[in-house]
Amino acid sequence: MKAEARTDAVIPAAGVGRRMGSATPKQYLCLAGKSVLERTAEIFLNCDRIRRVVIAINKSDTRFSSLPIASDPRVVVCDGGDSRYLSVISALEHSTAPYVAVHDAARPLLSTRDLETVLDYGERDDDGAILALAMADTVKLGDEGRCLRTVPREKLWRALTPQVFKREILLKALRYADSAGQEITDEASAMELSGYKPRLVEARDPNFKITLPQDLMIARSLFGDKTC
Ligand code: CTP
Ligand code: MG
Repeated sequence: MKAEARTDAVIPAAGVGRRMGSATPKQYLCLAGKSVLERTAEIFLNCDRIRRVVIAINKSDTRFSSLPIASDPRVVVCDGGDSRYLSVISALEHSTAPYVAVHDAARPLLSTRDLETVLDYGERDDDGAILALAMADTVKLGDEGRCLRTVPREKLWRALTPQVFKREILLKALRYADSAGQEITDEASAMELSGYKPRLVEARDPNFKITLPQDLMIARSLFGDKTC
């Protein structure tokens, strides 16, 4: 970790993992001998362009304090909120860095090269940058389980994380979106509402979000996981 690192990682990890359907929240499920959250946090702890790793956890979390990363001096922990963006706002308020890279706890596959590329773009200007995937499949507009029409996919992207912004600008944009009553599913959507145009940085490596049990199965096989 370089002294001049300008960016904090901000990791929302306060969800309950309803769609995973397991009693243990998905960020604490095992992936190649460690929890998903540790795997994710270590990607940033091992990157010398990251200053601190701020993790928002659920107010009723009893697991975080027993993880080895909990005693790392570069890790800052705070309470999350009732939705992802509220957890992100809380973590941003516990950061002091000029830039932040917001990354879902549930994306433990992020590669160092994709992280470095999105940092290169995000640390460049006020609009920031997000990791994204160009839409590969044919896209349908559906209604009641039937195809209404085919949506041209040339301009469609799937938003991933990390999403890298100037911390103060992002905090202001998230608070504005919140006060406007807008649904905020990622940081870029709040920035767009405030008139910014975050750069789309195409991901080169797998970086899917562990949402359903089959996602964890795929992540485990990519890690060659025989342990859990
Ligand atoms: N998250 C959070 N605070 C919340 C809700 C979600 O910090 N109130 C975090 C999750 O822990 C996860 C990330 O945001 O790392 C992405 O959210 P998602 O994949 O939707 O996780 P969950 O909300 O836990 O899952 P589900 O929607 O299936 O309940
Ligand atoms: Mg959720």
